[in-house]
Amino acid sequence: MIIAVDGPAASGKGTIAKALARHYNLPHLDTGLLYRAVAATVRRLELDPSKEADAVAACGFDELTLADPVLRSDEIGQLASVVSAHPLVRAALLQRQKRFAHQEGGAILDGRDIGTVIAPDADAKLFVKATPQVRARRRHNELQARGSSLSFDRVLADIRARDQRDSARSTAPLIQAADAATLDTSFLSIDASVNKAIEIVEARVALK
Ligand code: DC
Repeated sequence: MIIAVDGPAASGKGTIAKALARHYNLPHLDTGLLYRAVAATVRRLELDPSKEADAVAACGFDELTLADPVLRSDEIGQLASVVSAHPLVRAALLQRQKRFAHQEGGAILDGRDIGTVIAPDADAKLFVKATPQVRARRRHNELQARGSSLSFDRVLADIRARDQRDSARSTAPLIQAADAATLDTSFLSIDASVNKAIEIVEARVALK
């Protein structure tokens, strides 16, 4: 079984994907981490994220980078959104994600283009969303817990900027697959969101 979980920043897609992976005992790939690793490598090598050739050079990142806590920062998230808009960066990371999705026994992936590009053949597709205010509130709380002093308004502005960039790019933009079920987590607790996600997957798989 392949499960695709897509959605904007801080929608809850990562939390939901991890919980589904535990529930169905499937391997899980957070594809945003790959773009974040490219972004962190661009920064470390002092390359220019807006230049496609520079960003492509960072696609051969060291695998150890994937475990670096710095990847979770807001700054790297913004930079990941910039490097991910380059078609050649997406091409460089494509096969790795497709292989993960289509491994023996199935998998669950979360990102922006799983249901549309990486695994259009997924057995169940979820598009997780929440209002920008709710997502900014969650992200702000998370950042504060990690000692960041970014203001709520700044976090909200960053979320809007990232939504705009991720949705407007020409290659594999953030867009809901026609056959994806919408899961709006704006007014749901984590547990309620996960239960709803399991219900959706069960209903999808039962239809097959
Ligand atoms: O999910 P995230 O916040 O970790 O993703 C960081 C950035 O990476 C996001 O703003 C856009 C990009 N991304 C992408 O383009 N495609 C994916 N499948 C996952 C992430």
